[in-house]
Amino acid sequence: MTTINATTYSIHFDEKAYHELASLVSKNNYSSIFVLVDDNTLEHCYPRFMQLFATDKPIEVIQIEAGEIHKNIETCMGVWNVMTELGADRKSLLITLGGGVITDLGGFVASTFKRGIDFVNIPTTLLSMVDASVGGKTGVDLGVLKNQIGVFANPEMIIIDAEYLHTVSTREIRSGTAEIIKYGMTHDIELFNEIRGNDQVNIVDLIHRSIEIKNEVVLEDPKEQGVRKVLNWGHTIGHGVESYFLESPEKEAITHGEAIAIGMVCEAYLSSKILDFPKKKVLEIKEAIINIYGKVAINEDDIQPIIALMKHDKKNINGEINFVLLNDYEDFKINCKASEDLIQESIAFYNS
Ligand code: GLY
Repeated sequence: MTTINATTYSIHFDEKAYHELASLVSKNNYSSIFVLVDDNTLEHCYPRFMQLFATDKPIEVIQIEAGEIHKNIETCMGVWNVMTELGADRKSLLITLGGGVITDLGGFVASTFKRGIDFVNIPTTLLSMVDASVGGKTGVDLGVLKNQIGVFANPEMIIIDAEYLHTVSTREIRSGTAEIIKYGMTHDIELFNEIRGNDQVNIVDLIHRSIEIKNEVVLEDPKEQGVRKVLNWGHTIGHGVESYFLESPEKEAITHGEAIAIGMVCEAYLSSKILDFPKKKVLEIKEAIINIYGKVAINEDDIQPIIALMKHDKKNINGEINFVLLNDYEDFKINCKASEDLIQESIAFYNS
């Protein structure tokens, strides 16, 4: 797979990427290397990483607990404290080895430690390969509110090694697939067509194309002043749903991708009401999403609290909920508004 060049860094694929990492380490003469893992990636991914990455620098492993509920400032404090105890300095390198929680949190920890040290992302889940690890967004959640605290900071490089996908569950893969579907609907419908057709997909090709799309968008608008908002297609309602399910003890947890998939159905409905997105395609999206993800029950009583959570979305300005909507596939419009009644109707449409 060909290397993808981002602003100040590159995204390298396959085993040759570990040689690039070794070159980076020797070129920058880092004083020490820290690898941030969680319980799962320590057991299932770290052995492969150590087998493929050759260095004579000291390596320290820092382990945090797996799961979105640990993506918070307390966990960052723990990592900063351990780095301090282990003598990390400004010439240390932090390598993040894990899913979106590890790459987002690790990037934030690195970019704020001693006003910023270098970091490298090695995403191990589909979601972090195609989205979280790419594009320079780092951060943590504030309570149930997703990614409220963070900074834009680019890694020195990213390694995409699809072998790590063998270590994650089918449900996790499906979660990441929602982001690929997102790129499909907004930029390259073939991605959506491949996923919804039942053919055997080439996952590495899908990952490569998704990163190409994301990278092009980020190159145009690194700090989400405009066009980058398109990457939030499905996420405005999706994040509301995800936060609501996270904070409701009586609800079974859903993954990020499952929530975003619901968001894409609802926002397709809004697109047909507010723009000219064809109704036929709204139904086609709903059918495909329910085929892939099944149906999550959202009760009448759940809708208002979901909308209340959406009011914290970072894209909102002057308290108005801000959407990316579609005129058609591959034809989007940012900064759209929808009334609360219509948002309510769109969630009821998913549920119908
Ligand atoms: N996940 C959306 C973005 O990186 O902008």
